[in-house]
Amino acid sequence: MERTFAIIKPDAVADGNAGNILALIEKNGFKVLALRKQHLTRPIAEGFYAVHKGKGFFEELIAFMTEGPVILLALEREDAVAKWREVMGATNPEKAEAGTVRKLYGANIGRNASHGSDSQENAAIELAWFFRGYELN
Ligand code: CMP
Repeated sequence: MERTFAIIKPDAVADGNAGNILALIEKNGFKVLALRKQHLTRPIAEGFYAVHKGKGFFEELIAFMTEGPVILLALEREDAVAKWREVMGATNPEKAEAGTVRKLYGANIGRNASHGSDSQENAAIELAWFFRGYELN
């Protein structure tokens, strides 16, 4: 069984779409191993997105991710990393398939409702950034 890390971003939480996104997650066969609502501070968001530091959108990304609470999720199923990316759809909601999280609930490439790890290696790093080992069962 594989694990991935997901975030329901501040736009989706503020718009009242977190429940619908969680329903999609469960409908797609993911087990929610851990879930926490948290208002990210700047150091936590900057650390999480450190690979994007120096990019043109970094400041906008951090401002957005700290504007209100998010929901942090540890998810498990077969092929979890790829499957969650499929359920989310393309980063840019305009390019996302119908029925995906980002098509349904995202507004643009920055305010795109959800995050998902892009590899098993990064999933392990991202899960460890937000959850303790004993929370993941
Ligand atoms: P996420 O999967 O959370 O990982 C990095 C985020 O940066 C990405 O989703 C997008 O929301 C955001 N992002 C990527 N490219 C841009 C961009 N050109 N402008 C604003 N935000 C971006």
